[in-house]
Amino acid sequence: MWLARQCADESRHALAYHRLLRARGGRFGDYPVLNFQYKLLGRIATLAGRLAVQNRTFEAEGLDAAVFGAAEARELGDDVLADMFESQVGDEIVHVRFANEWIKAAVKKNPRVVLEIATALTLGSKAFEWVFADGGSEVTKYPVAEQERLRAGFDSSEVEVSADMSRSRREDLLRRQQP
Ligand SMILES: [Fe+2]
Repeated sequence: MWLARQCADESRHALAYHRLLRARGGRFGDYPVLNFQYKLLGRIATLAGRLAVQNRTFEAEGLDAAVFGAAEARELGDDVLADMFESQVGDEIVHVRFANEWIKAAVKKNPRVVLEIATALTLGSKAFEWVFADGGSEVTKYPVAEQERLRAGFDSSEVEVSADMSRSRREDLLRRQQP
């Protein structure tokens, strides 16, 4: 049921962004779309692995991006976009939270699940290296939305590690972008 709810939410997000894109003169196809997540997830055989990669990693980063986008749009006076990002934030917190809770309960019941998660995360980082090998400097890395990640069920130590990693990745990107 949680996954069904997530699918419904994601469809609603896609339709809402599509409506806004059209209202502002854009059309479907104006921007390239990367199906990296879809291709990667299809190669992960376990539910725990998929939740670890998709929900605890990609969705969590989507949460960071939506929090950042909402604040940026609000500051620019674009309240329509800010409201849309904010309602997305509420949904993303739920998507990340159910995965965190499900994974913690599954590991408690069967510690071998940790191995499934490690296998999936290793494949995830390898795939990331393959895909972004030539365009690494064009990747956008948003600051970690610490309060929202706590609400999404991460421990404070996990949030701290993510925030530190994100900071150092952003510094690294800035260094590489300098001539
Ligand atoms: Fe989501």
